[in-house]
Amino acid sequence: MLPTSSRFQFTADLNICRVLNGMWQVSGAHGRINPERAVEAMFAYHDAGFTTWDLADHYGPAEDFIGDFRRRFAARQGAERLGEIQAFTKWVPHPGPMTRRIVEDAVGVSLRRMGVDCLDLLQFHWWDYTDNRYLDALKHLADLRDAGKIRHLALTNFDTERLRTIADQGIAIVSNQVQYSLVDSRPAARMAAFCRDRGITLLAYGTLLGGLLSEKYLGRAEPGRSELDTASLQKYKHMIDVWGGWALFQELLAALKEIADKHRVSIANVGVRYVLDQPAVAGVIVGARLGAAEHIVDNARVFGFALEPDDHRAIEVVLAKSRDLMRLIGDCGDEYR
Ligand SMILES: NC(=O)c1ccc[n+]([C@@H]2O[C@H](COP(=O)([O-])OP(=O)(O)OC[C@H]3O[C@@H](n4cnc5c(N)ncnc54)[C@H](OP(=O)(O)O)[C@@H]3O)[C@@H](O)[C@H]2O)c1
Repeated sequence: MLPTSSRFQFTADLNICRVLNGMWQVSGAHGRINPERAVEAMFAYHDAGFTTWDLADHYGPAEDFIGDFRRRFAARQGAERLGEIQAFTKWVPHPGPMTRRIVEDAVGVSLRRMGVDCLDLLQFHWWDYTDNRYLDALKHLADLRDAGKIRHLALTNFDTERLRTIADQGIAIVSNQVQYSLVDSRPAARMAAFCRDRGITLLAYGTLLGGLLSEKYLGRAEPGRSELDTASLQKYKHMIDVWGGWALFQELLAALKEIADKHRVSIANVGVRYVLDQPAVAGVIVGARLGAAEHIVDNARVFGFALEPDDHRAIEVVLAKSRDLMRLIGDCGDEYR
């Protein structure tokens, strides 16, 4: 079981595991997933203490897996224990009119698929800031929250400027899910300070760079496209290229390996610990290819050590050589726009 330091009081009524299980990896873009094995595998995460799931309407069968998992969990453990599971979904609509009907229908689909009366967290994404109907959508979502269909409203991939616009309209947002890693530290530039001021937290993704931030890639020649066989690996290899390239990334992995050895943990552990310790960060989402690959025992070690000042100094030496992603890409989420 995980120590109590693995838990975070995310909202007054939601206590989460600070390492969340990411379900983009069941979408089909990360290799074949067997639904039966995947849902059964969810028990091992839960039993180890990884009780919090991150998913989305468009992650293939992810919402259905949560529904299935909850039904099996209720049958085996008793429905009274369902409150141990936290499932955070997203709504990523195609741009268009955001009427009450459209918003309510979308929330209804997630409620049905996940087999719940109320969504723990709905994280809203919007593709185009020139179309300000995102504010219409958020107002309807806030009404649905007040009507008891959503416990809390959140965002994903919003930049600081729009987060401020939304907060200033009086729409209560609890978190923003953004890419945050040793390679992509853009949230530290503006987003984190704003969130801290407004009592909003960050949920980080991309922290393990799809698996590139691990011993597996230490000392390896630069992988070609055919080796990068998941959507994540392709996405984050591109990020590394923009950040400073494969040679600099190898320097980073080598520095992390020394730190990891010193603490008897893995490179992935150091990467996750680093982001968990950043201001405003509530949790780090680690992708799980359910039923196909798992790192439960290793990821539990994140809660058993602390980074020291000389570890941070060694990391800084490498990061100082990287390019400025705020300048090259823009604020959080700008890579999608
Ligand atoms: N809001 C958004 O726009 C957005 C975008 C991307 C992702 N996300 C969320 O974030 C989640 C994470 O996805 P991601 O793409 O960012 O991937 P990630 O978490 O950076 O990487 C996941 C991969 O890392 C490897 N891994 C996990 N633990 C490890 C360990 N201890 N040691 C070595 N390797 C380890 C696994 O690879 P193997 O399976 O090969 O072993 C796993 O599939 C997604 O599922 C989703 O929930 C959100």
